[in-house]
Amino acid sequence: MAIPVLTIDGPSGAGKGTVSRAVAKKLGWNYLDSGSIYRSLAIAVLKQGVDLADESAIVSVAQTMALEFDCHDELVVRLDGVDITAKLGLESTGSTASIIAALPEVRRVLLQKQQDFKQLPGLVADGRDMGTVVFPDAKNKVFLTASAAERAKRRYKQLIEKGNDANLPRITTEIEERDRRDSERKNAPLAVAGGALYIDSSEMTLDAVIEEVLNLIR
Ligand code: DC
Repeated sequence: MAIPVLTIDGPSGAGKGTVSRAVAKKLGWNYLDSGSIYRSLAIAVLKQGVDLADESAIVSVAQTMALEFDCHDELVVRLDGVDITAKLGLESTGSTASIIAALPEVRRVLLQKQQDFKQLPGLVADGRDMGTVVFPDAKNKVFLTASAAERAKRRYKQLIEKGNDANLPRITTEIEERDRRDSERKNAPLAVAGGALYIDSSEMTLDAVIEEVLNLIR
């Protein structure tokens, strides 16, 4: 029996995570937060003090790291047995993830880890290249975006709510930098998959976005 897959791609801070989780919960499907795999690798690389220019050292960390995902109500991630959930959302983790995600060999090593999430009764996969590279045969594809200013505002609010330090102008610059890096890289850049439903959430409520995505499945 074919396992249904819904891919939700888009830039950082567009609300993919919240929307994907809500849709997965509503459908009773599994959920892949592919960004958290790149973020986990970033944490491992930073922890081991690996030089970000040393591609083969980064690839070897990717090959040997043991990741466990616990996704019930909240996502809990363990790296080599240690809970790293609290570090996943840090801006430094995200920007390092974006740098190492540009390495083709890193993407190749992490491909199977992502495809393993495709299990019955279905999968909602969120990231940058879910519909273009990881699950090109997915029946339903969404590209979810919002203006950089709106995404920066949302990220700022999220960080403050979690008790982290945050600076709006700096977040805006970081988001624009990350967009550029994720879209301009040669390997699996952020791009709208063929046949994807394009949603600009700048002026939409979360519920309206979730409803639009669920309508696609229905
Ligand atoms: O979605 P996110 O912000 O958690 O992702 C962090 C970084 O990981 C992002 O800037 C680029 C990289 N990434 C990727 O290259 N491909 C994906 N499918 C998901 C994330």
